[in-house]
Amino acid sequence: MVRDFVDRALEPEVIERILVSALRAPSAGFSQGSSFLVLTEQADRARFWPFVPTRVENSPAIQLAPLVVVPFANKSVYLERYAEPDKGWQDRAEARWPAPYWFIDTGMAALLILLSAVDEGLDACFFGIMPEHLEPFGREFAIPAELTAIGGIAVGYRSPDLPAQSETLAQRRKGITQVMHRGQWGRQ
Ligand SMILES: Cc1cc2nc3c(=O)[nH]c(=O)nc-3n(C[C@H](O)[C@H](O)[C@H](O)COP(=O)(O)O)c2cc1C
Repeated sequence: MVRDFVDRALEPEVIERILVSALRAPSAGFSQGSSFLVLTEQADRARFWPFVPTRVENSPAIQLAPLVVVPFANKSVYLERYAEPDKGWQDRAEARWPAPYWFIDTGMAALLILLSAVDEGLDACFFGIMPEHLEPFGREFAIPAELTAIGGIAVGYRSPDLPAQSETLAQRRKGITQVMHRGQWGRQ
């Protein structure tokens, strides 16, 4: 994650390639319930940043990113899709879901945007939008009530004087034996 950008525009074709990558995210039952608010105009991005004040306070240069994408999950699309005959969950009961696939799918689409940005030689950051800001953010951008923003993504050119990832962060990164269990839990 890179949180400090320079004021440098992105080619429209680059933006389109990054956005199109999100359409290839896997989705449960091919529900395709994710949707996205795309902010490329300076005036629109300026309307967005007040809703993530802590992020902006900690790294003001995140506001220079020329592309901001807000991915949304839509639970109702999944409940409807899985009520269809081939799935058969006509009671639309949420207890049936082993995990909230509407959030999982939108997270996968968000990761595709992050990885596509890196493929384009760019950097990006995924950041949270805190609960108290979601409602006013939704009002500002006319977001339909059934959509839930899972966070925001800033994409652009990293600041050249940005220091390398901090040593403590690198030390904290878990090793493969801490997270992978081979054949039996607890076995490496
Ligand atoms: C669901 C989620 C929420 C995150 N929220 C924030 C955030 O609000 N602000 C931020 O600066 N980074 C946020 N991050 C980025 C993480 O802090 C970052 O991925 C982690 O520290 C590892 O660093 P790296 O991705 O650069 O390796 C978030 C990442 C995820 C997946």
